[in-house]
Formats: sequence, C-alpha cells, structure tokens
Amino acid sequence: MRKIVQALIGAQWGDEGKGRVVDALAQEVGVVVRYQGGANAGHTVIAEGKKHVFHLLPSGMLYPNRLCIIGNGVVLEPEQLIKEINELAPAPGDIGTKLVVSRAAHVVMPYHKRLDAASEAFRKKNNPDAVIGTTGRGIGPCYVDKYNRIGVRAEDLVSPESLEKKLRLNMAEKNPLLEKIYGEPPIEFESIYRQALEWGDFLRPYLGDSSFEIASAIERGERVLFEGAQGTLLDVDHGTYPFVTSSSCVAGGCCTGGALGPGRIDRVIGVVKAYCSRVGEGPFPTEDRGEVGETLRQNGGEFGATTGRPRRCGWLDMAALRYSVMVNGLDVLALTKLDVLSGMDELKVCVAYEMDGKRVSVFPNSAYGLEKVRPVYESFKPWKEDISGCGSFEELPSAARDYVDYIERDSGVRVGLIGVGPGRESTIYRDF
Ligand code: IMP
Repeated sequence: MRKIVQALIGAQWGDEGKGRVVDALAQEVGVVVRYQGGANAGHTVIAEGKKHVFHLLPSGMLYPNRLCIIGNGVVLEPEQLIKEINELAPAPGDIGTKLVVSRAAHVVMPYHKRLDAASEAFRKKNNPDAVIGTTGRGIGPCYVDKYNRIGVRAEDLVSPESLEKKLRLNMAEKNPLLEKIYGEPPIEFESIYRQALEWGDFLRPYLGDSSFEIASAIERGERVLFEGAQGTLLDVDHGTYPFVTSSSCVAGGCCTGGALGPGRIDRVIGVVKAYCSRVGEGPFPTEDRGEVGETLRQNGGEFGATTGRPRRCGWLDMAALRYSVMVNGLDVLALTKLDVLSGMDELKVCVAYEMDGKRVSVFPNSAYGLEKVRPVYESFKPWKEDISGCGSFEELPSAARDYVDYIERDSGVRVGLIGVGPGRESTIYRDF
C-alpha cells in the first residue's frame, strides 16, 4: 500500500464490512480518522479470535502507537465513547494508542435521543410511510442543531459557562416541542448539565484540534486513512432520500468532516459486499423476502451491530454499485463476504432496472425514483466449495473468480481485496 491519504467508504447501504477492511489497512497506516456519523455505526472487527464492536472509536484503535482521530464531522455520544475507551484500556488512561477528539465535534445530548424516538413515533402516527427506522442514537436531531447553529460541541463540555448558555437556549426551544407536539416530559437542566460536565472531565485529555493533527500527519508523510461510516446510499445528499442518515457518507465527506483539501486524497476505496443488505425503511430493489434473503441473512450474520435488527437482504445490485463508483470516484473495490455465497443453489446479480417498461442502467438517487424500478437479473454459476481457506485469487473456484471478474468488468473498478471469512487472516489481497 503506497498511497499516503486514503478514504474508505461504504458503497451500498452500510454494513458492507468496512471495519475489517479498515483493520486490515490499519496495519500499514499511522493515522485513522472517523469523519461523519456517530454511534449509529457499528464496526465489527475480529482480531486474535476476539470480537470488537466500535460505534465511535476509529477501527485503528486495535493497533498500538497509532494516531486515531474523531473528526469534527462526527456526532459524539459521550457515554458510548467513554464506554469504548474504558473497555479498551487495561488501566485508566492507557489505551495503547493516541486518541484525539475534535473540539468541534457536536455532542449527541440525551434530548437528541429522545427527540429521535419521539419524531419517529410522531411519523408513525401521522404518516407511517415517512418512518425512517433510525437507529435511535439521536443522529438526525444532533445534526439539525449543528446546522441550526445551536448545537453543543465537545469544546462546550469543558466550558461550564458556554455549556450552560447553550443548554438553556436549547431547553427554551425544545421543551415546547417535546411537551406540546410530542407529549413528552421537558428537558431537565440540572441533571444534564452535571452529566455533561462529568463527560467533559473524562474527555478533556483527548480533546484537540483534529484539522491540525491531520494536516501535521500528512506533512510528516504519515499514511492517513479516513474511515467512512454507513454507506453511499444512506448519504444525506446522494442516498435514497429521505430514507438516509443525516451525514455525508460519500468520499467528499472526509474533506469537511475531517478537514482535508480534496486534492490531497490519493485513493478512494469502496467497500462492497458480495450481496446487498439494508436496515431500516426505504426502497431496496433486490430485497428478497423469501428463502434467498433468509439464507443470506443467516449465513452472513446479517443482524445490526448497533440495534440487533435483522437486516433485509438480497442479490448484488450493480446499478447501485456503478452509481457509487460515480459519486465517490472509487479507485479500487474491497469485496467482502464472498464466502457467504458459497453453497447457494442459485446466484443472481441485478445488472439493470426496468422502469415504466423500459430498461434503465442508471440508479435513481431518490427513494421516489427507486420505488418504481424492478431489478433485471442475470444468473451466474454458483459454487459449493468452502472458500474460507483460499489465500489467493487463483485458489478460488472458477465460478467465484468469474463472479469477481464480472464485478470488475461491469463497475470498471479493480477488486483489490476479497474477504473470504470473518477473521483477519481470511483476506485475499490482489495488489491492494
Ligand atoms: P440514523 O442514522 O439512526 O438516523 O438512521 C437513518 C437510517 O440509516 C436508518 O435506516 C438506519 O437503519 C440507517 N443506518 C444508520 N446507521 C447505519 C449503519 O451503520 N449501518 C446500516 N444502516 C445504518
């Protein structure tokens, strides 16, 4: 791996297995940056037989002497972050690697989670079609405050005066909403204020200037990896709006969420699962509600890392992947969970859509457009062999190689890494 600055993003609806790819890359990079989303993400990494699920910490935290950064674009749930830090630390303060949390990152306050749940319940009652199926981690309401410029930032947790002012302003605005519209109890100042200051005391040593840290690392010639959360089709601008998350999941998000000039990104890696899955509501053309979907879910362990919800599953969607290649400018693909397809009786790929009786090959990037399409499938030869022990592309059964070759040809992007099993060692590298 020769590139200095790399962005790694999800090319589908999240849950592509980004954590294990970041983990593989983290061996060779000095700095790993999370730049968007929050504890709605759940990045699973299996290292030395132990399973770790990170919601907020960059996946690079499992390697010693790295610099791990939580950038300004992340929305931070302090309780969750503190829990993850404590779980990693064999002794208080000893996390084996350096962690910097941007002072400008916005804080998910307890009332954001309450507003998230209340707003979903409100939609359910008033317009069930508008329910998003959020993770309930307060993501949307926190980003609303950020863009409305009344949000609490990490820096406020160590500044009692500004914290108090911001909290009081938020209470004045949100309590009528909570009480009158949602029929919920109001925000209670004292307990939240005290709790927030306690979070600040804990997080103080980690707070810093993430943009400066990133720039200095690049200046020093360190390899930097931007670790995306969620996926392209959940991006607030480019995803299947309104059934999306509230952050910029595409590669461009790392420029604003991590402070980076666009020209500094040397390589964009798209992580794509060998089939598709989606959690929450929203259109999903290749979803299979029958046996195929169930087999993929069971064999792929497709249950949410954050919420435990069963994921909706279906065949690979190349129209969606080609779209992802386009909006992210993908340079290379990391294909995960190829082993999950072993033993399937049939193997299909959606190569295009049918809309109003016509074949279309372009992904309509809004929920309303996507609801109208029907997938056009092509069948591929399935394979029965267990591929988890394959150490090279040549060792894969020819049907599996054909599948990978097809993905490369149709997307126009090289598949540089193939995941053939859950552990770190079950990875095929092809000049990655
Ligand atoms: P929110 O991000 O909690 O507001 O949820 C918005 C939508 O994004 C819902 O459909 C969630 O299921 C989905 N979502 C959020 N985070 C993830 C993730 O990490 N993986 C997959 N889906 C996610």
